[in-house]
Amino acid sequence: MGKVYVFDHPLIQHKLSYLRNEKTGTKEFRELTNEIAGLMAFEITRELPLEDVKVQTPVAEADCKTISGKKLGIVPILRAGLGMVDGMMDLIPAAKIGHVGLYRDPETLQPVEYYVKLPSDTGERDFIVVDPMLATGGSAIEAINVMKKRGAKNIRLMCLVAAPEGVEAMQEAHPEVDIYLASLDEKLNEKGYIVPGLGDAGDRLFGTK
Ligand code: URA
Repeated sequence: MGKVYVFDHPLIQHKLSYLRNEKTGTKEFRELTNEIAGLMAFEITRELPLEDVKVQTPVAEADCKTISGKKLGIVPILRAGLGMVDGMMDLIPAAKIGHVGLYRDPETLQPVEYYVKLPSDTGERDFIVVDPMLATGGSAIEAINVMKKRGAKNIRLMCLVAAPEGVEAMQEAHPEVDIYLASLDEKLNEKGYIVPGLGDAGDRLFGTK
């Protein structure tokens, strides 16, 4: 079963409180989303393998370490996932970016892919799928289905806020996928919003309604 990690770093929790506030405007919401995504990327990359290198400083040769060629991919689920990419790229600039766009079929209510572009070496990359909200889990589950169909093998999911219903659905559909969160909230309401959540992340990021 995929593990669920909730990052309790004080900076993440502090920024999340501002993000949740209904009075926070679009510019600040976008900045905070990127900042939290960056801090979460810092935590999520803790296990990256290192290799020994020698570096000549102005004084002497030093025994140092660099990240040993791990190929990472970040895959935002369109549209709200885009709001997390820049903050992560600040820390992991060599990562490749894939995109998965899904819409909900009005009749079946199932997510349907409308845009998918992944790095050509998909089978060799470690992917972090990003979406600020894990509500029912429908989009994230389908995004990972789509990625697996194209050869992705190693996938983790990073969201800011999740509902227990979404976590459970993800664990059932993709039991090997670990989930990384800034908060596991209380529930979904009858309209599919996470409670207390932060509202519609896409609308708040892009100033739409
Ligand atoms: N998507 C959002 O943006 N917010 C929610 O609360 C649920 C899904």
